[in-house]
Amino acid sequence: MAITVRDIRAFKERGEKFVMLTCYDAPSARILHDAGIPILFVGDTLGMVVLGHSSTIPVTIDVMVHHVQAVRRGAPDAFVLGDMPFMSYQTSVEEGIRNAGRLLQEGGANAVKLEGGGPFVTELVHRLAGAGIPVMGHLGLTPQSVNQFGGYPVQGRDAEGAQRILQDAKDLEAAGTFAIVLETVPQSLAGEITRAVSVPTIGIGAGPDTDGQVLVFHDFLGITPGRVPRFVKRYAEIGDGIGRAAREFAEEVANGAYPGPEHSYD
Ligand code: KIV
Repeated sequence: MAITVRDIRAFKERGEKFVMLTCYDAPSARILHDAGIPILFVGDTLGMVVLGHSSTIPVTIDVMVHHVQAVRRGAPDAFVLGDMPFMSYQTSVEEGIRNAGRLLQEGGANAVKLEGGGPFVTELVHRLAGAGIPVMGHLGLTPQSVNQFGGYPVQGRDAEGAQRILQDAKDLEAAGTFAIVLETVPQSLAGEITRAVSVPTIGIGAGPDTDGQVLVFHDFLGITPGRVPRFVKRYAEIGDGIGRAAREFAEEVANGAYPGPEHSYD
């Protein structure tokens, strides 16, 4: 059953916590949608967790359209959110509107998400909302600014930074966002913002006081190798399972157990 931006806003009105998961391909989209996940988010993290880049910077709008299409094919009735990648909107409002339009028109997304605050993003959000394109904001640690941040540090720890993020959230709400992601900020700030705006906040590394939570597919399933950020909870160890299955396949081929008669044709 398809949900809408109004349903997402209603989660907050009812005080109901909700989740969003990133998703990048058709079979995963079908599984997550059948599991009742209300928002399938095709994040530009796909550049890192699927394509092997060390940041989200190399992801282009063409790559995003390609993966949004796949997710839409896998879950025709899902609410699909498409991410605006680096340089798809930073150059001008017109470019931003055109590229957001591509995610809806060519990709089949229901809405878009973009990073940052300040006058330019606020103006773009206002224009997108006016053009009928629902927009989710994203504040705090905005990974497309990795080169400016010099890594992925917690944001809003000092009073000035916290005040700026709070003001950005209020401005995004006024400009027409239907929800705001808060990434890697102190939980007290996330709680303050959540109480200050009427649209839902969706936290990642922002503590328990946001309206919703989002995790990255490969992180929460234990596919991401090595160290993951403190905020990640691994709900499964699918990476280990894949490794075990691959080793068993190779062993069974080596010892002749596979393929058996039941896998062969007369
Ligand atoms: O691209 C992404 O996956 C994101 C989440 C971390 C919120 O922006």
